[in-house]
Amino acid sequence: MIQLVYVSRAAFPKDEEDLVLNAIVDTSRVRNANGKVTGGLVYCDGFFAELLEGETGALEELMSSISKDSRHCDLTVLGSVESQDRKTQDWRLAYWGNATFINKKIKTLVGCTDKESRTSGFHVLKHLISDLVA
Ligand SMILES: Cc1cc2nc3c(=O)[nH]c(=O)nc-3n(C[C@H](O)[C@H](O)[C@H](O)COP(=O)(O)O)c2cc1C
Repeated sequence: MIQLVYVSRAAFPKDEEDLVLNAIVDTSRVRNANGKVTGGLVYCDGFFAELLEGETGALEELMSSISKDSRHCDLTVLGSVESQDRKTQDWRLAYWGNATFINKKIKTLVGCTDKESRTSGFHVLKHLISDLVA
């Protein structure tokens, strides 16, 4: 099983937040359950972070869709590791709101090219999101 965390920047106007987030959540609930993909999505002040856990094939297909989605941009994969220890039991919207700490963390990681910072961000967000959905 693979665990993957990415961050990205929202690419829609603030007044469309409700519409867009609800649409993403509706699609994801169904598709992730069908593909046995678990994890959680954080939306914080114009930025996304998502933890996805599942089999390689399911995650590759999903990431191919997510990376082409025009509702966000600057998608940056922080890390993906093989693990037998699934940290989440299902998928859900883990957090939607403003939180200075999370926002700062995600903002500095979007587009980040420094490998060490990305790896440390991967671990921080993996634990944070799995705690939020637990
Ligand atoms: C930030 C973000 C996170 C997303 N997360 C998921 C997800 O976890 N599962 C999912 O099925 N779709 C997710 N989507 C929607 C996909 O990008 C895509 O629209 C959807 O899976 C349908 O795929 P298709 O357009 O290839 O048919 C997400 C979109 C965005 C912008």
